[in-house]
Amino acid sequence: MTTTKPRLFSPFKLRELALASRIVVSPMCQYSAIDGRATDWHRVHWGQLMQASAGLVFIEATAVTPVGRITPGCLGLYDDGCEEAIARGLAIARAAAPPVPVAIQLAHAGRKGSRTPPWDGGRGVAPGDGDWETVAPSALAFQPGDPVPRAMTRQDLDEVRDAFVAAARRAERIGLDAVELHFAHGYLLDEFLSPLANRREDAYGGTFEGRIRFPLEVFAAVRDAWRAPRPLGVRISATDWVDGGWTLEDSLALAVRLRALGCDFIDVSSGGVSPLQKIPLGPGYQVPLARAVRAASSLPTIAVGLITDPAQADALIAAGDADLVALARGILWDSRWPWHAAAALGAHVHVPRQYTRAAPMGAQGVIAKR
Ligand SMILES: Cc1cc2nc3c(=O)[nH]c(=O)nc-3n(C[C@H](O)[C@H](O)[C@H](O)COP(=O)(O)O)c2cc1C
Repeated sequence: MTTTKPRLFSPFKLRELALASRIVVSPMCQYSAIDGRATDWHRVHWGQLMQASAGLVFIEATAVTPVGRITPGCLGLYDDGCEEAIARGLAIARAAAPPVPVAIQLAHAGRKGSRTPPWDGGRGVAPGDGDWETVAPSALAFQPGDPVPRAMTRQDLDEVRDAFVAAARRAERIGLDAVELHFAHGYLLDEFLSPLANRREDAYGGTFEGRIRFPLEVFAAVRDAWRAPRPLGVRISATDWVDGGWTLEDSLALAVRLRALGCDFIDVSSGGVSPLQKIPLGPGYQVPLARAVRAASSLPTIAVGLITDPAQADALIAAGDADLVALARGILWDSRWPWHAAAALGAHVHVPRQYTRAAPMGAQGVIAKR
């Protein structure tokens, strides 16, 4: 147990949105929707995540059009049925958990769409088996053997931008607290950023300015629709980890541009554009990227990636590496990770009142009084 007050459990504000701690549940695809609609799986899953007593819970990458899904089982927010299914699922989950802000990650899979879920190999959906034509900045497959996407026309760009805006409006109607645009992991908007995937010869390719143009147009349009004070952020892949690809320096310049457009936070991930990536995996391996983005942009940042230990998470917040830490696999492994982190660091959490007797001998002080 530490002697100083744990920073991990100090409050934070994303614009006007108050977070009770610095712990974020990272977006995690569940591949369990039907026709883009949330199912019973999501209701239970969201309830469980919301019972974790994190400061902010993300709903998974949620497609803004049907062809923007990664798999046929990906969640969508592109029609009334999708909107109703998320609203209903959230109402159920919220009834089973203490109040916690919920954010949604809006996404388009680009050339990495029309795949099977990871548990079925993550390969291209067989032709005629519910597959679809994928779109991307350029007609370049992600890897040899993958279907070649169709290069987007000007009209496609407008439609995708408008789909992001429409999804943000639906998110507002549902009562979601924050939106994150998915600019990472080699999906559509990241494909525009990276010179490895974007070989366009029009105004949306070529130079850094050309490659950031469409993602920034999407951001600006969503910012207009998702009006302040609601926080709007972006998840980036801060580097492609490939020579000749998108670099950390590019990310720092992008973050400054996003800030000027009213971005409220940057969630700093990496990789995903190229199968040639060489990622130096290790505890907190992306933390230095978050630190650099935070220093260059002065924006709140989320650090993510192999942050598993409460003392590690607390130390990186205390060191000013990032403002928030996101956990993905760690929360699936231990869905009460924040409770256990509070016990380890000598902090307090609000738990569902039905569970207030849960704390074992010696840890009773962890459960905050209402
Ligand atoms: C099951 C699973 C689903 C994921 N889905 C998404 C997603 O929807 N959007 C996203 O940006 N990252 C996604 N990720 C990546 C995580 O959000 C996170 O960045 C990554 O797993 C590293 O964090 P970790 O070491 O805490 O797991 C997913 C990861 C996992 C394990």
